[in-house]
Amino acid sequence: MKTLVFATNNSHKLEEVRAILGERFRIASLKEIGCTDDIPETADTLEGNAMQKARYVKEKFGYDCFADDTGLEVEALNGAPGVYSARYAGPGHDSEANMQKLLKELEGKTNRQARFRTVIALLLEGEKHTFEGIVPGTILTERRGTAGFGYDPVFVPEGFKETFAEMGNEEKNRISHRARAVQKLAEFLAGRS
Ligand code: IMP
Repeated sequence: MKTLVFATNNSHKLEEVRAILGERFRIASLKEIGCTDDIPETADTLEGNAMQKARYVKEKFGYDCFADDTGLEVEALNGAPGVYSARYAGPGHDSEANMQKLLKELEGKTNRQARFRTVIALLLEGEKHTFEGIVPGTILTERRGTAGFGYDPVFVPEGFKETFAEMGNEEKNRISHRARAVQKLAEFLAGRS
C-alpha cells in the first residue's frame, strides 16, 4: 500500500481523512514520519500555505504528501480573516478573541455572508494538484452552541438553521469545507491507485 503523508498532527483531521482514504493508502501523520518541525506557513493565500507545507515534507522527508489550509472569508470584510483566520485577533489569541473581533468588525453591517474555504495541496509523483471545499453561510450577531472549534458558534451554513457549534460532529464533518475538499482529493486518488 502506498504511503501518503498528511502534513498534520491534528487527530480529528487524520481520523476524518483516514475514514475516506484509509483503504487505499497508508495515511501517515507528521509524527509518524518523525517530523517534529514547526512547518512554516508564511504565504498570503490558502493555496500558498498548503503547498508550502506539502513541499516542505517532500523536500525534507521524501514522501508524497498533501496538506490543508482553511480560512473564513467574510464578504463585508473583503474576504478577511481568510488566510489569517487562526490569528485574526493577533498572535497568542484564542478562538474566543478571534470571534469577538469578527463580531465587532461586523457590528451594524447588514451583509453577513461568509464562507469557509479549505484548500488541499497534493504533491504526487512529481505533480502538483489542489482541491477546494467551500461551505457558504452567514455570520450571526452572537454565539450559539458549544461543539466544534474556531468560528463554529457564529457560523450558520446555508440550508441549515443551526450553527456548526450546534450540530453534532458527525453532521458537521459530513458537510464541512474540509470534507468537501477531502472528497475531491479522494475522487482524484481513486483514479490513480
Ligand atoms: P486550519 O488551516 O485548519 O488550521 O484552520 C485555520 C483557522 O481557521 C482555524 O484556526 C480556525 O480559526 C478556522 N477554522 C478552520 N476550520 C474551521 C471550522 O471547521 N470551524 C470553525 N473554524 C474553523
